[in-house]
Amino acid sequence: MSSKQNTPQRDFFSNKFGIIAATAGSAIGLGNIWRFPYIVGENGGAAFLIILLLIKFGIGLPVMLSEFTIGRHTQRNPFGAFRMLAPGKLWWIVGFMGIIAAFTIMAFYSVVAGWTLDYLYNSVLDGFNNKSADDIQSMFDSFVANGWQPIIWMFLFVSISSLIVVAGIKKGIEKYTKVLMPALLVIIVILCVRALSLPGAEKGLEFFFKPDFSKITGASVLEALGQSFFSLSIGMGVLLTYGSYVQKSDNIGSTTFIVAFADTAIAILAGMVIFPAVFAFGISPGSGPGLVFVTLPNIFEQMPAGYIFSVLFFVLLSVAAITSFISIQEVVVAYLSEELNIKRKTATFLAAGGAVFLGALCALSQSGHLNIMFGDMNLFDLLDFASSNLMLPLGGLLIVIFVAWFMGKERLLRELRSNGLYKASYFPIYNFIIRFIAPIAITAVFLSKLGLI
Ligand code: PFF
Repeated sequence: MSSKQNTPQRDFFSNKFGIIAATAGSAIGLGNIWRFPYIVGENGGAAFLIILLLIKFGIGLPVMLSEFTIGRHTQRNPFGAFRMLAPGKLWWIVGFMGIIAAFTIMAFYSVVAGWTLDYLYNSVLDGFNNKSADDIQSMFDSFVANGWQPIIWMFLFVSISSLIVVAGIKKGIEKYTKVLMPALLVIIVILCVRALSLPGAEKGLEFFFKPDFSKITGASVLEALGQSFFSLSIGMGVLLTYGSYVQKSDNIGSTTFIVAFADTAIAILAGMVIFPAVFAFGISPGSGPGLVFVTLPNIFEQMPAGYIFSVLFFVLLSVAAITSFISIQEVVVAYLSEELNIKRKTATFLAAGGAVFLGALCALSQSGHLNIMFGDMNLFDLLDFASSNLMLPLGGLLIVIFVAWFMGKERLLRELRSNGLYKASYFPIYNFIIRFIAPIAITAVFLSKLGLI
């Protein structure tokens, strides 16, 4: 129906750099700079990092390529893509699930992203200066407990994202990510040089790079898979949607490899900023989600020229968050505009409005103003858990099963080779992984997250 009529007007990324900037922008986000360091910290450092790398490139990358391939092949939003590839079958549910998952992730991601803006604002005003560790902790606690303040920041964040998304693919998403991603790289390198020059930085590097395999448990292997998927933006329809804006002449195999590589490099650089700083100031590396919002302001406060590095760090975090958020918003916008024939402007507004509404409920559930609990989880925890741990692996699993077993080998190969332009000599290994290894591994994670194994 409508998806077919809209195909000729589809916007495309203009070149490979544009595709990589946008896709790496999606992958590189709070997952790399906020989540990755504390997860590595909690799981014992370097040994976990090795497992994570093996899983990310051994399983994450092939799944990522599969999702990207469906998008490029069909040039549709996730719902339309599955309806086109499997007409009359129930596979469209997978696409629809991606859209729901994207919407769900928008809600809680926008709350944390709003925190980053507040922290940026505080850094600029030098608000952490002369504060004790306890003061900084209670600043964070009272900010979250305030309820309204996080909602205002979240609203501002979603508005900025909407301004980018509404402008379209080339003139919006591509234009901004092409500038913001190189800026992000420059900032993280500056921060890294600063962190490595702190006295005592070596201890942090040792923790991060010297493996102790006795710390690895079954749970950490599962954690590594979940983190790889989250970090590569797998299973939410984001890669499928971005893939649908990729021109037929692009070598999608090399594009996804470069994005996975960039995503990993930025996560490692983030670790090389955070661990040397944490060890230099004698703080425990496993400080949980507060590592970035409590531990780091503490460190900046004590560090010579901490003001400038604190501002740079929160600019970095905000940029990383925005380039990821726009990709999630685009999934919902592409669906609304292509399937329901809603104008892009209205679709962007609807997606933003929905995210702000649900995000506000999340923020209020965290501040205690909205007292609905799901077991021991509030709404924020529930949406985080349901999207990251359930919808995302399930989406990734179904996508990989579809590509490996239902899309047809010829069609798949033709797409990977861009109709004979490239060799795709990785195909036999890729095919083996998506047929057997990835589905088994993801199923294991999924069942264990549900507590069934
Ligand atoms: N990859 C992003 C990050 O690491 O922060 C998060 C993310 C974006 C997850 C988009 C899922 C997604 F669809």
